[in-house]
Order: sequence, then structure tokens, then C-alpha cells
Amino acid sequence: MASLKHYLNSVIGEALAEATQSESCNANVITSSKPGFGDYQANGIMSEAKRHRMKPRDLAQQVIISLEQSLPSLIDRLEIGGPGFINIFLSDREIRTRATLAIQEPDLLVPPAENPIKVAVDYSSPNLAKEMHVGHLRGTIIGDAIVRVLERRGHTVIRQNHVGDWGTQFGMLTTYMKETVGAVNDLPNALADLESFYRDAKQRFDKDPVFAEKARLSVVKLQGGDEDCLNAWRMFIDESLRHCEAVYEALDVTLTRNDLDAESRYNDDLSVIIEDLQKADLLAESKGAKCVFLPEFTGKDGEPLPLIVQKSDGGYLYSTTDLAAIRLRRKMSIQRALYVVDARQSLHFQQVFAVARAAGFSNQDLSLEHVSYGTMMGKDGRPFKTRSGDTVKLAELLEEAKQRAYELVTEKNPMLPDSQRREIAERVGIGAVKYADLSKNRTSDYIFDWSTMLSFEGNTAPYLLYAYARIKSILRKAPKGNYHAIQNLSEPEERALCLKILQLGEVIEAVDRDCMPNQLCNYLYELSGNFMKFYENCPILKAESSQAESRLALCRLTAETLQLGLDLLGITPLDQM
Ligand code: ARG
Repeated sequence: MASLKHYLNSVIGEALAEATQSESCNANVITSSKPGFGDYQANGIMSEAKRHRMKPRDLAQQVIISLEQSLPSLIDRLEIGGPGFINIFLSDREIRTRATLAIQEPDLLVPPAENPIKVAVDYSSPNLAKEMHVGHLRGTIIGDAIVRVLERRGHTVIRQNHVGDWGTQFGMLTTYMKETVGAVNDLPNALADLESFYRDAKQRFDKDPVFAEKARLSVVKLQGGDEDCLNAWRMFIDESLRHCEAVYEALDVTLTRNDLDAESRYNDDLSVIIEDLQKADLLAESKGAKCVFLPEFTGKDGEPLPLIVQKSDGGYLYSTTDLAAIRLRRKMSIQRALYVVDARQSLHFQQVFAVARAAGFSNQDLSLEHVSYGTMMGKDGRPFKTRSGDTVKLAELLEEAKQRAYELVTEKNPMLPDSQRREIAERVGIGAVKYADLSKNRTSDYIFDWSTMLSFEGNTAPYLLYAYARIKSILRKAPKGNYHAIQNLSEPEERALCLKILQLGEVIEAVDRDCMPNQLCNYLYELSGNFMKFYENCPILKAESSQAESRLALCRLTAETLQLGLDLLGITPLDQM
């Protein structure tokens, strides 16, 4: 079923169009700010009235009269509010009917996309020369939530893990690897700590000119397709990917090897990109480097800002690869390409998108969107580091999350068997790290703080997981039965909860459009709040039998909705905590 908001927008929009005798109108329906204003309000009357030189209240009146001639069953009544809003009061009966349907078929809560499209989502995308660190956490988690939502809406989603697997660093690393690692079997051990391996190789490179020369030569050989160098490189990449996969598994992130869209994939295209830019008359030379200058990009003092696509030594750059990747996306008939990447790369993407359009690598059939996110900060407000100032490895951070959650669970529930406490701790710990990130507006910097994310109060994973487990425990205590119908909504808390459940759909539509998973988090937090109010005000197991059945059905649907929402965020709830 279409979301409530979507549906109301279309019926009121049509009535508006009829009243103003125009093609289409925007009813601009939003959830009401106050209970007295109904469940929803249409705010679009004023601007449409202005556009058609009518009095807003007259227009509102006309719309109401025309709708009342055959009032859709969803609407109980309509009222004019303020200078020309329409307040919309929904019918309890229809709310019950829809909720009852959703109990039988929870998928109905998520409306499928009206026009499913082919979407590419570039996310996680670490550099394989080093270990994944906290800088990759946000993009990995946010990107994964976005792909889950888009897929659930019925879009064809192509995950693209644009890993950095090419460039001079790999000459140095593979040369060092060949020197220090004897047998292939020793590789996993030697590369167990990529960070220190990199450090050692770099030290060698800086100190020993003979080694440095060898490393440089191996880059050239690698680029020339030398089988021996390529083999060493493949072994290194393979090992490094295994590190990433361990993190993906720990995080329950859906990326696999099939989703690789590595930089190296584009090697052969890079020279073609330069030729095509030349043909499009976009290339200019600056200090020996090949650049594209577009008038809309200027520096602080108004000087033209280039996008460099080939260095003076002939080497290609990050931007060249991204241009090649856009061209391929276009060839694959992808309609929307999302780049879930750090906000600090926003100028890079603006420039690359603009150059791609100017060169015809992309056109209006492909929407290019940088889904940016802020930096992860420590409690001191500075970029998150270890005490000694090193970058924090993701694998270690996740271990710490589990350990902290284990201590918490043990404190709360010392009687549970240890294995169960470990299992709960894993879900809570990882869930907390993910949720803390997802629940913030992604565009701002975000403060990583263990104590807030592991708190059972506020908009946190433990709070939501606990709410879910609490509902499950009520359902366990209920007499056996098939609670499948919501028969009445006599109490306001009951109605509010039921309506909230039906609003999941419009939140999902918004996440699909804006790529802001925090909207879904806020929704789940409010939903849990609605449940708690219902639970405090409406007896469930002690109510008389038909009332109890209806309320148990509502509990069941609340649990399903929470589970569905958490699942879209990549968090698995627990029946017991
Ligand atoms: N590997 C890059 C980094 O670690 C991110 C790549 C993002 N994706 C892209 N198409 N540029 O910063």
C-alpha cells in the first residue's frame, strides 16, 4: 500500500488541481504539529491560492467540499485551520483495517517504489594499502543502511566498493613483501598487521635508495602488465581484502567480493578519458599537468581552480578513475549513482560530476549524488585517535564494543549463562556502534562516545533493543493464540501507536529520496516511545478478553515494525536481553 502521506498528497493534490483548474498541484501534506490540528495537515493551499490569485480559505473550503462528495475511507473529516490549512483527521476504522492487514503481511508497511530504477551505491571503498580504520566506519555503515532501504523499495541496487588498489604504494608494498616474506603460506601472518607492515616498508623505502629504486621500477612493471609483479600484487590485495571482509562480517555489512569496483578496473580506460577530454576541447595544460578548468570553480581569490587529470610525469589520478567510473555507470544504464564518501571530498565530487557532464560522460539520465558525511570525532572534539595519537583500527574498535557491552550485560543480568551474555553483548555492542552513527544527521561531524551509545536511555540501540525484547516478553507471557486483528482503538495511546506504525512507509520513502538513515532512527525511537506510553496506560494481559487480544495484536505488530526498521539499518534485535 502507498504510504499515508503519499496517498493524502495525491487525493488532496487532485482536488486542489480541480479547484484551481490546473494540471497538478502540490498539497504539501505533513504530519500535524499539534493533536488539535488532526493527524496530518495540508500546507500547500496557501501557495496554490497565491499562484492562482484566490483567497486561501476559499480555496480550502472548495477543496473540502469537493472531497466530501465522496470522502475516501481513510479520511474521517477535514477542517479548515488558520489562514488556509486543511487539517486531516483519519478514520479509526481505516487505521485498524490497515494495521490488521499489516499483521498478516508486514511487508505492506514498506511501499514499493513507484518507479524502480537502477542505482549504484559506492560505499566503504577503503584503501587496500592499509588497514580499515575509523575513517571508513561511517561510510560503511551509512552506505549499507542506504542499500538495504533501496533494495527493500524494489530498486535494482549495484553495490560498488571502490577500493584503492592501484598506485605507487603498491610497488613499495609488493617489493617489500617479496623481500621479507619467504613462502606464500607465511603471507597471512606477515600481513596480519597491515599497519605495521606499511610502516616498515615505508621506513625501508625512505632509508634505502636501492630499495626505493626497485620499488619504483616495480610500479612501472606492474603498470606494464609484468606477470610476476601482478602476481605479487594480487596476493597482497587478496590478503588485504580478507581484512576488510572480517570487518564487514563483524559489522554485519552486506558487501562481498562481487561488489568490488576497484580502481585498477579502470586502468585501460584512463588514457581514453584523456583523449575524450581532449576531443571535447576541455583539456588545458598547467605546469606540465593536464587539467580541466570549468568557470564555476574558482579559488579563494577568484583564480580558476583546475581538476587535474594527468600529472606531468604521465601518471593518472583519483579524479581520472572517477571520470572513467562515471562513464561506465552511464553505459550500464544506471540512473542514480550515490557516492557515500567523507564530506572532505565534496569539492572533488562537485568537480568530477561537472566535468563528466561537460564531457558527455554523463547526462540528465544519470543523477550523480555525493552522499557526504562528517568526520568522526573523539570526546575532546578532535578527530578520533588512540591515546597515543594513532588512528584506531576498526577491528580493534569493534572488539572493544563487544567487551564493553559484555560488562554492561553482566552487570544487568549476572544470572544469565555466559554464552548467552556473550551473544547479547555482540548484538548490543555492534548495534550500538552502528546505531550511534546512523542516528545522527550524517552531514555533521559526529562525536564518538562509548557511554552515550551504550546507554539504555535516549535514542540508542540498547534502548530500542530493550523495547523490542520487552514486547517479546509480553507476547511470551500471553496465552497461546493467534493475535491477528486490531479490533478497537479506544484509548488515545493505542491509536497513536497504531498510526505511528502505519507511518513507517513515509519514512522509508524519505530515506530513499534523501539518503538520511537518521530519519528512520528517529522514527524507531518515537515508535518505541509510543509503545512505552501505550504500555503504561493500557492494560494488556489484564484487559478483558477481546480488548486483550486486540492489544496483543498491536504488540505483535509493533515488534514486527521495530524488527523491520532495525533490519533496514543492519541491526538484528534479540528476543531476550
Ligand atoms: N578510496 C577512497 C578513500 O579511501 C574513497 C573512494 C570513494 N569513492 C570514489 N569513487 N571516489 O578516500
